[in-house]
Amino acid sequence: MSNAAPIGIFDSGIGGLSVLRHVRTLLPNEELLYFADSGFAPYGEKPESVIVERALGIAAFLLRFNIKAMVVACNTATAAAIAALRERYPDLQVVGVEPGLKPAAALTRSGVVGVLATAGTLASDKFQKLQQQTSAATGVTFIAQACNGLADQIEKGELQSRDTAALVQRYVAPLLAQKADTLVLGCTHYPFVEPLITNVAESVGGSVQLVDTGEPVARQLERLLNQHGLLRADTPPQGTLSAYTTGSRTALVTAFRVLLDLNPPVDEVVGQMD
Ligand code: DGL
Repeated sequence: MSNAAPIGIFDSGIGGLSVLRHVRTLLPNEELLYFADSGFAPYGEKPESVIVERALGIAAFLLRFNIKAMVVACNTATAAAIAALRERYPDLQVVGVEPGLKPAAALTRSGVVGVLATAGTLASDKFQKLQQQTSAATGVTFIAQACNGLADQIEKGELQSRDTAALVQRYVAPLLAQKADTLVLGCTHYPFVEPLITNVAESVGGSVQLVDTGEPVARQLERLLNQHGLLRADTPPQGTLSAYTTGSRTALVTAFRVLLDLNPPVDEVVGQMD
């Protein structure tokens, strides 16, 4: 495996861009391939078996480019499929993302933390274990809130619409009422509606700390590549970015422009990739 090989990053849709932005900043030398499975989004309310099949198909697609590492930039796909990915591709470096319960436990003063995530993530064994262990170790109470429909609104580009604001209000207000002072953004789409979440706290005269795991995931990727001698170190940095989607090309082009001010080449791929 050459350190010049690209890194694949995938999500059910555009949520993974909240991870990609940290990867680009931390690893400006790398060639990045972003895969948005927007034709099959959202993942959050789909059976695990469907997500495992999608994740394995996407990995196979990205491996055609000889990727050296894959970032599963989706909490739902990590919970459902990371074990299957590691089993099928034991030589591939795979980095996943999970809700930041430990950092949130270190931040909270009230001892109550809200966790915003998809129904799939919250129902997974992986999350249940993480919650039990973190709660037992720290004494913090975690209140899990499934945010059905929210990733979909973000996927549609509705970052500030009335409907999205109403959904955020419905999910966040009860957590604040139960004294949560820290909220975990347990879905990679949610950092893109941070202003709406903050507004809910301000409207009840308070503030809330938000925990996003994009940066720690980028650091974990860097550590892993470094450990295996796979980091790319050109001077000046020569990183590149290209993207693939199972949804609409225009939608992904727009998301890159609006969310990250980037204009990478984007290709549409058909749903059945192998
Ligand atoms: N962005 C994904 C996550 O982190 C899921 C959104 C969805 O497809 O439901 O969980």
